[in-house]
Amino acid sequence: MSTASEGIGERRYVGGVEAATPRSILSVSDVSRYFGGVTALENVSMALNAGEITGLVGDNGAGKSTLVKLISGVIPPSAGHIEFDGRPADFASPSQARTAGIETVYQDLALAGNMTVWANVFLGRERFRGPRFLHLLDKKAMIVAAREMLGRFQMNVPPIEGNVDGLSGGQRQLISIARAAAWGSKLIIMDEPTAALGVAETQAVEGVIRTLKDRGFSVLIISHNLDQVFRLTDRIWVLRRGRMIGERRTAATDPNEIVSMITGARAGNGEVA
Ligand SMILES: Nc1ncnc2c1ncn2[C@@H]1O[C@H](COP(=O)(O)OP(=O)(O)OP(=O)(O)O)[C@@H](O)[C@H]1O
Ligand SMILES: [Mg+2]
Repeated sequence: MSTASEGIGERRYVGGVEAATPRSILSVSDVSRYFGGVTALENVSMALNAGEITGLVGDNGAGKSTLVKLISGVIPPSAGHIEFDGRPADFASPSQARTAGIETVYQDLALAGNMTVWANVFLGRERFRGPRFLHLLDKKAMIVAAREMLGRFQMNVPPIEGNVDGLSGGQRQLISIARAAAWGSKLIIMDEPTAALGVAETQAVEGVIRTLKDRGFSVLIISHNLDQVFRLTDRIWVLRRGRMIGERRTAATDPNEIVSMITGARAGNGEVA
């Protein structure tokens, strides 16, 4: 029977040289969250390694989005402790989490449809020219910078001066991810980033997620699509009914085992996960 801490801090040998123990970027310790009489999370612990893509899976209502909201400062935990990059992560708001280096991309996308692509990239972080009290937006600089930011990813850059309204779901998702990556964040969290996308758009978003890893970002991805989770992740954590069931290295497990952990059904080896 595996425990939730299995694999964390393991030592790997690369070419006879002992590789550094993976550095933890986020650790969630004994966190609970109640909504009135509803227990959304109970004594949940989870650790994320820096530079890895981590998957968080679980059935509907398992508590995945609640856990993301606790990590990203949307709501506080009822009990427990979260540490990010070696510091307590008791954020009072999403903007505090962002300042600390955690960006969250939601399925329903926090993009303003009636604004241009460049204005969305700079939403809340506008650049000004001249004396600050005049509030003169430095539109030219933002357009140039937004084009450069989006161009860093191998993606079909949409017209930077066009409105977001005219874009497909996939293009919007890519802008949200590129925006998250552009702001010096360390951890990018994605709650169901491709749930509403078609096959080609999903492929494009997955490509960008891989690019994030190549560039050293840590990524936490929530997805109901197990094929996708297996394609993308280094490690998978499983929540069931508000409890953390366990963690597996993606290369050392298979979809059958993960499904049995999600549902609580017996795995092939007779173990009740
Ligand atoms: N604001 C809230 N008020 C009351 N109950 C809530 C609230 N947010 C979440 N819950 C409850 O907490 C539990 C976990 O919900 P959560 O949204 O975290 O699940 P999830 O794993 O993200 O599910 P899904 O896969 O459907 O998105 C559910 O029972 C849900 O009804
Ligand atoms: Mg959810």
